[in-house]
Amino acid sequence: MAHTMVIFGASGDLTSRKLIPALYRQFQRDRLPKPSRIVGVSRSVFTSEEWRQQLAESTAKFVKGDFDAEVWNAFAQNIYYLPGDIGNEADFHKLAAFLQEIEEGKATDRVYYLSTMPQLYAAAIEQMGKAGLNIDDFGHRRVVIEKPFGTDLATARSLNESIHKTFREDQIYRIDHYLGKETVQNILVLRFGNTIFEPLWNRNYIEHVQITVAEEVKVGRRGDYYDKAGVLRDMFQNHIFQLMMVTAMEAPVRYTGEFVRDEKVKVLQAVRPYRGSDFAEFGVRGQYHGYTKEEGVPADSQTETFAALKLYIDNWRWRGVPFYLRSGKAMSCRSSQIVIQFREPPHMLFGEQKSYRPEANRLVIQIQPAEGVQIYFQSKVPDSDMRLRLSELDFRFDSSGKEPPDAYQRLLLDAMLGDPGLFARSDEVEQSWRIIDPIITAWKSPAAPALNIYEPGLWGPTQCSEWMQGQGRTWFDICPILP
Ligand code: BG6
Repeated sequence: MAHTMVIFGASGDLTSRKLIPALYRQFQRDRLPKPSRIVGVSRSVFTSEEWRQQLAESTAKFVKGDFDAEVWNAFAQNIYYLPGDIGNEADFHKLAAFLQEIEEGKATDRVYYLSTMPQLYAAAIEQMGKAGLNIDDFGHRRVVIEKPFGTDLATARSLNESIHKTFREDQIYRIDHYLGKETVQNILVLRFGNTIFEPLWNRNYIEHVQITVAEEVKVGRRGDYYDKAGVLRDMFQNHIFQLMMVTAMEAPVRYTGEFVRDEKVKVLQAVRPYRGSDFAEFGVRGQYHGYTKEEGVPADSQTETFAALKLYIDNWRWRGVPFYLRSGKAMSCRSSQIVIQFREPPHMLFGEQKSYRPEANRLVIQIQPAEGVQIYFQSKVPDSDMRLRLSELDFRFDSSGKEPPDAYQRLLLDAMLGDPGLFARSDEVEQSWRIIDPIITAWKSPAAPALNIYEPGLWGPTQCSEWMQGQGRTWFDICPILP
């Protein structure tokens, strides 16, 4: 079936950096529906030809070695640009007529990609409705919405309500690019495509779980946005919760969109709400030294650029197992990983009298950049008495050293083909805000834990390591070794 992708906010950075390179790569691999057209819409005035020229340059830069001028020319033939303003109803009628013209009256599926400023999502969707762009009797009509989806529960709920006036839930694809990462999808395969992990994947064998998304970068030129968001909105409500959901969910009945999403949302529903002193005791806040001097950041900003939270998932599988979540900017290295810390053997026969105390088993899922899985276990030091050492089984996702496909490649194709499994559902988004909102509110009140200043290039504030030690545990600060 023919396909058209309409990108609103087309002159923005996301289009040139992520969307067009992802579509180009899928075209190069012959995976796009035929024909696939792309229509860019934004306020800047230029022609389709001028836009193609700009995109040729940016795509060549972002796909590097994959750029082939001949393939690009074939791909670019179906790229169009139409100037348009979200505030202007007439522009949406023009767009509707333009789409009919290029689709030559043939049944065509469409994806409308909202890559505009988030404040414009509701207005853009209302205008689409007025111009009949939502009517799906001549092909599917789907809408992809970039993050952030709301800034708290109230705004997310009101955005859901206003979108539902124009599009049904099954037409709405809320994107979280973490779900497009190969290694995140691989967690489901690791857990549910094998028999050896799942019997141990519960409170009987797991002592705690650590989920870390550390970034080496600072806020850069996004200070204005970031200062209003902070790390809880920017990383926890979406990406980190997604990692937690795939780590903790039950096996779905089948691997299809609704079954997977049903199980994921149940994890969030089981998260124990913070009460009383939890707000101070179950978290650590930090801000990197120099943040308040960044462009767009007020000199007295109290916004967190680092946070660590301890959450409990109160269900049959996880009751009593702490999930430690942490993320921050300006940290030691870029490293996202999930550590499953198993319990110690019930009765340790070896190493009791020696200075070396055996460590319990650990499974490390490296999300990025050294995508892979490591299992740590005890083995005997050769030619010793019963001395033990921690050994490692190391699986690298792709030993060729090539970067994995960009998350947008998979997600855009799924939206085009109508597979919602890797997109967030309305109840999931609302539930995640229900967890985060009270923490954000409390952290702005006198009940907030202190804002700890940390030097860039560390694993966040030293208070965070002390906090963990105080609970008899240690963070696994792993800077992955790249091949
Ligand atoms: C974005 C956040 O959603 O994710 C950024 O707004 C963050 O602040 C980025 O840097 C991290 O994505 P990735 O894929 O580089 O881990």
